[in-house]
Amino acid sequence: MTDSQRHIHIFDTTLRDGEQSPGVALNPVQKLEIARALARLNVDIIEAGFPITSDGDFDCVRSIAREIDTATIAALARTAPADVECAGRALEGAGRRRIHIFTSASAVHLQHMLKKSPEQVVEMSIRAVELARGLADEVEFSAQDCMRADFDFVRQLYGAAIDAGATIINIPDTVGYGTPRQYGALIARVNQEIVAGREIVISTHCHDDLGMATANSLAAVENGATQVEGTINGIGERAGNTALEEVIMAIYTHGDYYDARTRINTRELYRTSRLVSKLTGMVVPPNKAVIGDHAFAHESGIHQDGVIKHRETYEIISAELVGREAGVLVLGKHSGRAAFRKALTDLGYDLSGTADAGLNDAAVDGIFTRFKELADRKGQIYPDDLHALIDSQFELTQTYTLEAMQVLSGTALVPTVTVKIGTPAGIVEAAATGDGAVAAAMNAVSQAVGKTPELTNYRVQSVTRGSEALGEVNVWARLDGVTVMGTGLATDVVEASARAWVQAMNLLESGQGRRQERVAGV
Ligand code: KIV
Ligand code: ZN
Repeated sequence: MTDSQRHIHIFDTTLRDGEQSPGVALNPVQKLEIARALARLNVDIIEAGFPITSDGDFDCVRSIAREIDTATIAALARTAPADVECAGRALEGAGRRRIHIFTSASAVHLQHMLKKSPEQVVEMSIRAVELARGLADEVEFSAQDCMRADFDFVRQLYGAAIDAGATIINIPDTVGYGTPRQYGALIARVNQEIVAGREIVISTHCHDDLGMATANSLAAVENGATQVEGTINGIGERAGNTALEEVIMAIYTHGDYYDARTRINTRELYRTSRLVSKLTGMVVPPNKAVIGDHAFAHESGIHQDGVIKHRETYEIISAELVGREAGVLVLGKHSGRAAFRKALTDLGYDLSGTADAGLNDAAVDGIFTRFKELADRKGQIYPDDLHALIDSQFELTQTYTLEAMQVLSGTALVPTVTVKIGTPAGIVEAAATGDGAVAAAMNAVSQAVGKTPELTNYRVQSVTRGSEALGEVNVWARLDGVTVMGTGLATDVVEASARAWVQAMNLLESGQGRRQERVAGV
């Protein structure tokens, strides 16, 4: 890495485009938690949301703008003045504010979605950029579906946006249509014919419909782009966006070839990926590059032999570089508070409790109590156990808590579960049956709380190692058109399910679910 290399700006849109993944419903507390993780990762720009779409999105952008000061905060807006003004208001208080205006460039979008002529689209874009300039430090301009658009129109539209004051121009391949060579050629043309030597940042924004988002983004970097947009774990609409962790590690590995570097703290990649996976409920496939469970696993004898003799025989990046292992860590039920705190620090957690993102003493005490319970049941505690406990520590206002539960089941018995739920009115006890013990547990919780949402999806996975591994249950619950996702963690699946269902009840109670909104593309 040298100082003369180009700085590639990493623009994270996990909280905006990533949240557009089917079934993802992040609440404001979770979004703030992800924004803090992105700040630790040191991304350059966080696209915090699309404020006009809902009061919830507006509030999220505002709270992220007020808290995070190490990255530029971006808010999305269509060309309508109300959108732009709303984005401007949401960004008030940010250290550096960017309004990201978007319209469309392809004939199919103009004709069938915007129902506007090319002249109208240019005119509206100019007005929007001019308005945004007065409300933010910088303006980014995007036209959806550039890859399938007529280049003469792309030249006219982006030229007008630059003349109106946009200093970052983003070239989306909205439907993931291009190949690396085609998309790279488009960026080269944008560079030569639109930017033409001016101080304008060219940005890439790719989708993964043909599995080429990472390759296309890198082709853009080769051809002059200095900003890459994408999401953690590649989540997003349909097949998703460019997976940022892949682009970051490709640039890290081939910095000389791309003549480029990023400012990313790569050791935060794995932790950020886990957090996003946990909060969105979108599982990372084990063979996923950089952050998948198997990304550094060697199965065949020849590979194992090679790696033991010399790691680089079969590994081009080390697990440590992306934050996968922080040394050998063995904790057990006899481990005390000091060893526990040291283990957390070794894993990269900030225990100062002074920084907004740090864990304070009360939080550490809470995790320590759960650690002790787990160590009693499980014996040895691995780094993954601690990560999982810390992730689950981050909880919302708890109206309801699972105080106790008893399960009665067997081959000849109708499963019956009794729960004691802490509520604002005191402890409520309820018993219910179900097709299985999991269903019985959820029915009992519903009865105690007095809410009967519909269970729309259920998933269980093991998140740690060992026969007493921690099981994580995700439940998606819908009530009156609002969907929430609850997560529960325990060594027992029935208990994890009950905890997840209680969390779903808390989210519904606090009104933090997601209502599926339809916003016109204009
Ligand atoms: O994919 C896309 O075109 C977008 C724009 C809003 C930038 O997400
Ligand atoms: Zn997109």
